[in-house]
Amino acid sequence: MSAVPAMGLACAVIGLAGCADKADQPRSLAGADPARGLVVIKRAGCASCHAVPGVRWPAGATAASLDGFGDRPLISGRLPNQPDTLVRFIRDAPSLDPQTAMPPMPVTEAEARHVAAYLYTLR
Ligand code: HEC
Repeated sequence: MSAVPAMGLACAVIGLAGCADKADQPRSLAGADPARGLVVIKRAGCASCHAVPGVRWPAGATAASLDGFGDRPLISGRLPNQPDTLVRFIRDAPSLDPQTAMPPMPVTEAEARHVAAYLYTLR
């Protein structure tokens, strides 16, 4: 994970307001509703692969638990954990990282925004 200190340095030097590794930075998605995101998560079956706080069953173990995701600086340890990137990752992760085992998910852009808003409540 050598990318993390490097990004931290870039943030310190450039002073970007929304820098990717500021895990305590509020991440807002205008108009997105975390409660609707949880409904989408249940319907889409994210929990068949991920343990997701708020979803009692199933609690899949083929992928990382999403508990605490809102505090992670990176998505899958590689991509900046920022709203636009997360929304795209949720819908079509392979378009961002061809090596990823996270499949494209059949959710709309609006649904993915709700999901992202929910994931950012997981601190
Ligand atoms: C078929 C299994 C599967 C399903 C279904 C699935 N995922 Fe994933 N997901 C993965 C795998 C595997 C990874 C790890 C990818 C990697 O590291 O490249 C991942 C990674 C992630 C990450 C990054 C986690 C981290 O700690 O950085 C998020 C966020 C995520 N998935 C959200 C979702 C959401 C939201 C849904 C439902 C819309 C979903 N996933 C459905 C398998 C799945």
